[in-house]
Amino acid sequence: MADLEQIASPGSEWWRTAVIYQIYPRSFSDTSGDGIGDLPGITSRLDDLKSLGIDAIWLSPFMTSPQKDAGYDVADYRDVDPLFGTLADFDEMLAQAHARGIRVIVDLVPNHSSDQHVWFQQALKAAPGSRERARYVFRDGRGEHGELPPNNWESVFGGGMWQRITEADGTPGQWYLHIFDVSQPDFDWTNEEVREEFRSILRFWLDRGVDGFRVDVAHGMIKADGLPDYLPAADADSMGGGEENVPYWGQDGVHDIYRDWHRVMAEYDGDRALCGEAWLPTLERTALWVRPDEMHQTFNFPYLMTPWDATALRDVIRDSLSAFGAVGAPSTWVLSNHDVIRHASRLALTADSPQGDGIGPKSAGKPDPVIGLSRARAATTVMLSLPGSAYLFQGEELGLPEAMEIPDEFRQDPTWFRTGGERYGRDGCRVPLPWTADGPAFGFNETGESWLPQPDEWARFARDAEEGDAGSTLNLYKHLIAERRSRGLGTGSLVWEDAGADAVAFRRGELHVVANLGSEPIELGEGVTFLVQSEPFDGSALPVNTAAWFTRA
Ligand code: NOJ
Repeated sequence: MADLEQIASPGSEWWRTAVIYQIYPRSFSDTSGDGIGDLPGITSRLDDLKSLGIDAIWLSPFMTSPQKDAGYDVADYRDVDPLFGTLADFDEMLAQAHARGIRVIVDLVPNHSSDQHVWFQQALKAAPGSRERARYVFRDGRGEHGELPPNNWESVFGGGMWQRITEADGTPGQWYLHIFDVSQPDFDWTNEEVREEFRSILRFWLDRGVDGFRVDVAHGMIKADGLPDYLPAADADSMGGGEENVPYWGQDGVHDIYRDWHRVMAEYDGDRALCGEAWLPTLERTALWVRPDEMHQTFNFPYLMTPWDATALRDVIRDSLSAFGAVGAPSTWVLSNHDVIRHASRLALTADSPQGDGIGPKSAGKPDPVIGLSRARAATTVMLSLPGSAYLFQGEELGLPEAMEIPDEFRQDPTWFRTGGERYGRDGCRVPLPWTADGPAFGFNETGESWLPQPDEWARFARDAEEGDAGSTLNLYKHLIAERRSRGLGTGSLVWEDAGADAVAFRRGELHVVANLGSEPIELGEGVTFLVQSEPFDGSALPVNTAAWFTRA
């Protein structure tokens, strides 16, 4: 791997190099005191985000929603749910972010709506074959009396992917498709009326001034003709990342939608951007979402899913730069989000609860928190040195681990309910942030309410505690982001270096980056001046589970 040079994508648009911070609004900061974060809470913390050094924020959904899937079930795409505030609160937040030079990306959920959306309510009342039904995927059932679902597909959240309705006259009726929860009916994207509606929704938010969209389930909107039967392998990733030829993931027709949206975005000034959430089996397939006339970015989930293994990490970085570079797009990098186990826990999962299996009711052996945090800090030290755009998930800058001991009565993820308690789902990465070591709900609000309980030990991860601690994860992130910016690391080439089989080593200009993923220290040699150490150490031997940035005399 030594001395192979890889060039990142050309171009100067902001999204090619940006560090983008994901806000999960219900868990970020709560000014109303109801235990759920809100938009004024985000506005009140913008200075903290500015001091972290990020370029942009991405907000998970805050639109009107019954919250059956934490807002990914939208009932009105053009309004703010009262839980989070009002459109005026949104406008104020946006203006305040822009005043600080922070761009704002909002989440768009086009694959499905809430069952409370006016269109779906109309569809339920309308007749089979009507214009109202044609906005969603309604089909007659199989079997003599239509009593069997139209095919055998299984929901990502567990159980079947079809729900039978009762027709307006009280008789058992058609079935509708829902890739996710029963409360999230899929739109029919072959219907021009759906397409026109979403062009208009894009314009609604673009006109308000948003800088882009994170597009939910950007690989799922088109289903294979005829809706053929399909069952994933038992060990397949439910979002499709591990499977080829799935009739509801990655169908070619989705690309027409994004070409269309690309044209809408181009009507606006300021390099507005689309970032796709598309889980696909290979990086080459993933890169199809960011061809020059489609989306601008797409999440690099193969990178996120890479275990703590030097060969695997070198390979995924090399392959990412090649695959995205081949279509002229920046690679993105991401280690945590609201759907996966936080990387301060995930990177230390043991053989008893291996990578990808998650932390579940039946998993034996919890990840070691000390090893997990060290690896997380090292992994982020590598990530923020890479050319392209990096996504951070709120709380990772504090080193937060997954919350693993949430009492069952608090759990809210539909996965938990639809699997009858077989899988915890994602609540463990969504617990409200600790802002202060003392005070109600660790400063999340002033009442002490919290929609998911915060672990007692989180006092030590509180932002105010970390601010004053030079060795804290928060200060590591600030240092990394500031150096990344001043050295222009978001762009330019990467030259691979050889520091042994257990190392990931490369050069960015004069800066050397090395991570130790093995079990023995790695000697870095003479004349080394460190700029960053993911954990403090003396001498020139890089300890295990550690990464460093340095120059060499
Ligand atoms: C992906 C989102 O990230 C996840 O949180 C959500 O449950 C599903 N899409 C369904 O919208």
